[in-house]
Amino acid sequence: MGKIVEFDHPLIKHKLTIMRNKNTGTKEFRELLTEITMLMGYEITRDLKTKDVEIETPVAKTSSKMITGKKLAIIPILRAGLGMVDGLLQLIPNAKVGHLGLYRDPETLKPVEYYSKFPEDITSRDIFIVDPMLATGGSSVAAIDVLKKNGAKSIKLINLVAAPEGIAEVQKYHSDVDIYVAAIDEKLNDHGYIVPGLGDAGDRIFGTK
Ligand code: PRP
Ligand code: URA
Repeated sequence: MGKIVEFDHPLIKHKLTIMRNKNTGTKEFRELLTEITMLMGYEITRDLKTKDVEIETPVAKTSSKMITGKKLAIIPILRAGLGMVDGLLQLIPNAKVGHLGLYRDPETLKPVEYYSKFPEDITSRDIFIVDPMLATGGSSVAAIDVLKKNGAKSIKLINLVAAPEGIAEVQKYHSDVDIYVAAIDEKLNDHGYIVPGLGDAGDRIFGTK
């Protein structure tokens, strides 16, 4: 079974509380999302492989570590996932970025795919799927389905807020995928919104309604 990592860090909890507040505006919401994604990225990238390289400092020759091994791809689920791309790119600027357009039908709550564009060599990359919200889990399960159909083998799912129902759904269909989340909330409401959550992440990032 893939692991579930819920971040227990004061900076992440503090910033997320500001994001949850309905009075927090778009600009601050976006900035905080980037900051939290960077903080999460520190842990998410912990298992990247390193190798020793020989370098010369101003003082001496030495052997020192650099990242090696498989390359990375960040795949945001549109739209809201776009808000997590910059935070990860600041840490891993050479990662490729693919895009997957999914929206959740408001009646059925089922995901509808409308766009996809992935790096050519996706089969040999470690994939970070990013989306702030894991609610029913339908969008994340669909995103992982699409990526696996395109040959992706190593996938991590990175969310800001998750409902227990969404985590269970991803584990049911994709037990190989690790899930990293800043907070696991209480439940879903009758409209499939996370409670207490932070509302509609896409609308809060982009200032739409
Ligand atoms: C939101 C969110 C997830 C999805 C989560 O996107 O960003 O992609 O809902 O819900 P689920 O786990 O029940 O599938 P939305 O469909 O609102 O699209 P948007 O990002 O374009 O606003
Ligand atoms: N999508 C969101 O943006 N927020 C939720 O709470 C659930 C789905």
